[in-house]
Amino acid sequence: VTRPLRTQVAIIGAGPAGLVLSHLLAARGIDCVVLEDRSREYVEHRVRAGVLEHPTVELLRAHGLADRLDREALVHRGVQIALDGRRHRIDFEDLTGRNITVYGQQEVVKDLIAARLSAGEPIVFDVSDVRVEGFAGDEPFVRYRNGEGSVTLRCDVIAGCDGFHGVSRPSLPPGALHIHDREYPFAWLGILARAAPTTDELIYSNSERGFALYSMRSPEITRLYLQVDPDEDINDWSDDRIWGELTRRLPTSEGFTLLDGPILEKAVTPMRSFVATPMRCGRLALAGDAAHIVPPTGAKGMNLAIADVTVLAAAIDALERTGDESLLADYSDTCLQRVWRVQHFSWWMTSMLHRFNDHDDFQHQLQRSELRWVLHSRAASTALAENYVGLPFGRIYPEEAR
Ligand code: APR
Ligand code: PHB
Repeated sequence: VTRPLRTQVAIIGAGPAGLVLSHLLAARGIDCVVLEDRSREYVEHRVRAGVLEHPTVELLRAHGLADRLDREALVHRGVQIALDGRRHRIDFEDLTGRNITVYGQQEVVKDLIAARLSAGEPIVFDVSDVRVEGFAGDEPFVRYRNGEGSVTLRCDVIAGCDGFHGVSRPSLPPGALHIHDREYPFAWLGILARAAPTTDELIYSNSERGFALYSMRSPEITRLYLQVDPDEDINDWSDDRIWGELTRRLPTSEGFTLLDGPILEKAVTPMRSFVATPMRCGRLALAGDAAHIVPPTGAKGMNLAIADVTVLAAAIDALERTGDESLLADYSDTCLQRVWRVQHFSWWMTSMLHRFNDHDDFQHQLQRSELRWVLHSRAASTALAENYVGLPFGRIYPEEAR
């Protein structure tokens, strides 16, 4: 059975990028279909990072998508960075006048799905064999299978919001993309624990034993990370070993208490930096993890994905309203200014905080010197704070000629 359907925008992927895009388009009266190959249950329970930049929260609020967030999320006015077991505070409100919000990625996803479904707009879960085609011309289409058979969905634009392992990026013709990437000699072991947080700010800790991060999700749940080897076997990490290592790496001898509790989830996440350019080929635009990955130090992945789709929504709006393709033609350049800024920030945070090669003493001394400068110089801590709370969406250097 082939049922031809039509929409203005076909969105592949119901992660933060695809779902936010669907809301931005709906707000402009543009219709779209979101196609997701996993189940609703799966995407609503995938554990990811949980820090929202100031511009991300403002965007969600402006679209009426922040009611639960405003009730339940934790507002943090700064972060703490520990070096050699001593804590230093970066005061975001003082340095930038802004703050950040801690709210799990899957909570954002749940809110976005609920709002879209209650407005009667479609999200098709559990699709398979998704193919993106015809985007070199102006009649792109998506083919997929659902429970009833195979479907062809015609559209004006395809938004590839299907994450790092999706089909959109690999569907571009060979040679269309340039890949810029970097791997790191470590991964993060992350846990979610039923244990009350004992601070109201995150603690990033550079310790001799390697990096550790103290984060949280709610007044009952902490989220903790340890730097581990990239090929680390999670089965080698008993709960006792994890708590022991966290105790040694976090600044527990300095008035900070680490409460333990049942571990609800644990996983090892690889670290990489990756950018595929350009982020558009004809009528197929890539957004979020489909186009780029950042290492999690700084928690930028979801925020960057949302920044991309704000640019994409405006470009699609111009195309649909007046046939003007110029914003779509500029989409990649516009996004990449911010993408590279955030890539640098995430790489910088990663470089300052992790333990690298034990034999490179020179590098180690440079790292310590840089981190101490960030902790003690107001100019340097402002640079960290400005990036952490989030640069504006859209062109971050609008004065530069196109
Ligand atoms: N067809 C349909 N959907 C697909 C396909 C496919 N072939 N392949 C992947 N997907 C779906 C995934 O199941 C996922 O729900 O696309 C979605 C992509 O979502 P994310 O991986 O969350 O990527 P993105 O929306 O770009 O979010 C960016 O937010 O979730 C955080 O840390 C995460 O950095 C990431 C950021
Ligand atoms: C998280 O809470 O999951 C988190 C916080 C900060 C990061 C990364 C992840 O840099």
